[in-house]
Amino acid sequence: MNNGFADVSEPRALTLEEIPVIVNDFRQAAANAMAAGFDGVEVHGANGYLLEQFAKDGSNVRTDAYGGSIEHRARLLLEVTAAVAKEIGADRTGVRLSPVSPANGISDSDPQPLYDYIVEQLSALNVVYIHVIEGATGGPRDVAPFDFASLRRRFRNTYLANNGYDLARAQTALKDGSADLFAFGRPFIANPDLVERFKAGAPLAALDPNTLYGKGAKGYSDYPTMAETA
Ligand SMILES: Cc1cc2nc3c(=O)[nH]c(=O)nc-3n(C[C@H](O)[C@H](O)[C@H](O)COP(=O)(O)O)c2cc1C
Repeated sequence: MNNGFADVSEPRALTLEEIPVIVNDFRQAAANAMAAGFDGVEVHGANGYLLEQFAKDGSNVRTDAYGGSIEHRARLLLEVTAAVAKEIGADRTGVRLSPVSPANGISDSDPQPLYDYIVEQLSALNVVYIHVIEGATGGPRDVAPFDFASLRRRFRNTYLANNGYDLARAQTALKDGSADLFAFGRPFIANPDLVERFKAGAPLAALDPNTLYGKGAKGYSDYPTMAETA
C-alpha cells in the first residue's frame, strides 16, 4: 500500500533526512507536554530506547555523522536534548541515562568515555538534571564496572540516582555527595505512601513481582497505605 510513508516492513537505518524530523518530534512532544500543564520533561536516553540505540556501539552500525566516534553516536541524544531545552527551557529539561544497563538488549564496548562525554555535553547545555540508572535496570547494580562518580563530577546541576535504592542507601549517597536526588521505582508500586513511610521509619510492604508487566490492575493500584493497613 502506498500511504506516503517509507516501507518499514524490513528493519532499516533512519535516513539522514529523517533524523531532523525525529528531533522535531521530540521538540513538539515537549511543547505539547508543557501546554498540557507539565512542570518539565525528561528526555529518555536510557534502557535501549531510540536515543540509546544511537549512543551505544552494540546497536549503532552507522557510518555517517550519527555513527562511529563517540561524538557521532552521542549526536542524536544531544540534538534532541538541545531542541527540547530550547523549546521549554533547560531548567525544565532532564535526561535519563543507563550507561551499563543491558535493558532491551543494548550494550556498549566502552561506556565510560562515551558517558563522560555525554554528561559533559549535557552539563554544557545546562539541563536541570541527569537521571542515571546505576547498573542493570531493575537488576544488579554491579552488572559491569563503571565509575558513576565520574558522571557526578562532570555535571553541574542535579544528579538524580536510580536503581535498587532504599532509604539507607539513598541517605549514604546523599551524605557522601554521590547523588542529590533519588528515584524509587519498585518500592513505590508496593508502597503508595512511600514518602510517609520513609519519614516515619515504617517498614515497607514487599512487592509481588508476579503482578508486574501487563497482567491487569492488580498489584498496581491496590497496595494499602499504612493508614489502610492499621
Ligand atoms: C513494572 C515496571 C515497569 C517499568 N517500566 C519502565 C519503562 O517503561 N521505561 C523505563 O525506562 N523504565 C521502566 N522501569 C524501570 C524503572 O524506571 C526503574 O529504573 C527500575 O525499576 C529500577 O528502580 P527501582 O530499583 O527503584 O525499582 C519499569 C520498572 C518496573 C518495575
